[in-house]
Amino acid sequence: MEIVSARSAGFCFGVKRAVKMAEAAAEEYGRCACLGPLIHNEDVVRRLEELGVRTVDSLDEITPGEPVIIRSHGIGRAEYEKLRALGCPVIDATCPDVARIHRLVEIESAAGRKIVMIGERSHPEVVAVSGWCGDSTVLEDPDEIEKWLSETPNSADLPISVVSQTTGERKNFENSVKLLKKQCTNAQIFDTICNTTSNRQREAREIASKVDAMIVIGGRHSANTAKLAQVCGECCGKVILIENASQLDIRQLEGACRVGVTAGASTPEWIIKEVNRMMSDEIKAVETVEEENKAAEAVENAAETVEAPAEVKEAPEAPEAEASFEELLERSIKTLHTGEKVRGVIASITPSEISVDLGTKQSGYIPISEFTDEAGVDVNDVIHVGDEIEAFVMRVNDVDGVVMLSKKRLDSVKNWDSIVEARASRAVVEGVVVEENKGGVVVNCKGVRVFVPASQSGLPKEAPMTELLKKKVRLRITEVNQPRKRVVGSIRAVAYEERRAKAEATWNEIEVGKRYHGVVKSLTSYGAFVDIGGVDGMVHVSELSWKRIHQPSEVLNVGDEIDVYVISFDKENRKISLGYKDPNENPWVKFTSTYPEGSVAEVKIVKLMTFGAFAEIIPGVDGLIHISQIADRRIGKPEDVLSEGEVVKAKIIKIDNENKKVSLSIRALSEPTAPVSKPEADEPEIDDDEPTVVYDTENPPAPEDLPQE
Ligand code: F3S
Repeated sequence: MEIVSARSAGFCFGVKRAVKMAEAAAEEYGRCACLGPLIHNEDVVRRLEELGVRTVDSLDEITPGEPVIIRSHGIGRAEYEKLRALGCPVIDATCPDVARIHRLVEIESAAGRKIVMIGERSHPEVVAVSGWCGDSTVLEDPDEIEKWLSETPNSADLPISVVSQTTGERKNFENSVKLLKKQCTNAQIFDTICNTTSNRQREAREIASKVDAMIVIGGRHSANTAKLAQVCGECCGKVILIENASQLDIRQLEGACRVGVTAGASTPEWIIKEVNRMMSDEIKAVETVEEENKAAEAVENAAETVEAPAEVKEAPEAPEAEASFEELLERSIKTLHTGEKVRGVIASITPSEISVDLGTKQSGYIPISEFTDEAGVDVNDVIHVGDEIEAFVMRVNDVDGVVMLSKKRLDSVKNWDSIVEARASRAVVEGVVVEENKGGVVVNCKGVRVFVPASQSGLPKEAPMTELLKKKVRLRITEVNQPRKRVVGSIRAVAYEERRAKAEATWNEIEVGKRYHGVVKSLTSYGAFVDIGGVDGMVHVSELSWKRIHQPSEVLNVGDEIDVYVISFDKENRKISLGYKDPNENPWVKFTSTYPEGSVAEVKIVKLMTFGAFAEIIPGVDGLIHISQIADRRIGKPEDVLSEGEVVKAKIIKIDNENKKVSLSIRALSEPTAPVSKPEADEPEIDDDEPTVVYDTENPPAPEDLPQE
């Protein structure tokens, strides 16, 4: 059996620190109290009790003057004050990452902002954070956020500052933030999730996907251990959750060739070692992930050394074989500070983060979400292993030796000045719409978030803002609020100016007959308005099609791109009349070039009237068969012989080019000498007053206007 141990298994930095502080306190004071179990591990809590650390559930159980240990979850401000009043020495083991949230919410609250904390309402860390702010609310997931938004009056304008429980699930936080940003225009987001948890889960997932069985060691009441087991279960069929070595039944591992081991943040190293030792009888070879990774890194580093650009000389310090106490102390001193600008070399790129070699003892990493705000950017297209990169230090964890960096925040600072300059010079800036919220959209202009109110988006009033998402837009900066780092812009202002310039150019060059490629902007019952370049022209319904149509929507849709030509224009009154139907498709021209007078055509009866029948000769051209021309005998009414939709042969006996009217006769074909499809040699006798045929069957002449037999 081969065992693969997770490098990140066991105590996180905050818990390790708390345990050390508790041990030191027990040694110094002999007896002391701990507010709540120091960690979620009964073995550790029991061992501390033996050393003199008793666990109390509330401040009421504290005796005045008793030394009190604050666990890594921290406590609220009021509890500190009470301890001071009781004269208790305080051993404050609040994790520095948690303490940072206390400071943050305190400052934000003092600035009049409401604190929204994403996390488990009853979790001690969350309860403690609430004790550091005034107006605050705890929301657990997107469902609760949606409910809160709908029930909170003026939630859109509320100044809120959002933080997360350090051990919160990143996906949950991201989805929650997405919802809040969409609705609230004045939201400040602080990503306070501790990467130790996500790194541990990521490594556990990696190992679980390569082994036959996975052992997860941790307290049964620990949420982070439960989550770890769940993550492993997603990639591995067999996950065994134990609290210590005594709970491991080795028979459960029968048949497994590779077994992975990980542990929650509250599991001490000695329990992990014990589990490993217990399995060692079964083990033929132990190979840790650490060894694998070290070997892989060594190979990679060797390759990179050859390829590295000459100017990159700041390689990380080589690990020293032996270090004196002073040297170790020196190393533990923080060399990087939050907010500093650093330069490094990209060591690797994964789908979730970019590792940066800073040439210091800490390893830097940029979460992919901190690389850029530009939509659609594939990190691998813009940076490569070996490239130099500059970034801001977001968080330093000296104990774990990691530094979280952000490139997008550095870009944002760099580009802030150019935004301020653009405001002063009224220059047009470009950006991509990255977010939509109730009040408008947010445009990312080279890392600077610019809010564009809905009224300045350039979209019609009722149009959904989603239309703009991920689109590149041009805008003018209209407001810069330096202290609040708030920038407001207008897409509409630029669009308006650009349209005006285009319109001027169009009016200067317009002429009758000129063709334009335009966009249908709107439809009415009488026609379509088409933008031909900053100017809208109107295509009358009769100019849309050679066929009879009732509504412009039968031919066009809003947004269609079409070719039109100018029929007429009035510069003074700014009116343009456009044509859309193709003159080459004119059915009258087609008809007259195909059917001379005297020829015979197959026609379709389209309408029966008292005085005759209208028949379609070709689409767009109808003729009239007068009642006297329907049959070679006298008939009472046309429907005695014909019916609508019937196709019959008819002779074209008269074409009135001027009025575009055609007279047809069926009777003429019953004459014995009637030729087919040729001009008639001897026409049947037709009165000069023979009714002409009306082209428009919708508006036929009144029967009394027609000559009668
Ligand atoms: Fe602190 Fe992160 Fe552990 S916040 S207590 S180091 S999980």
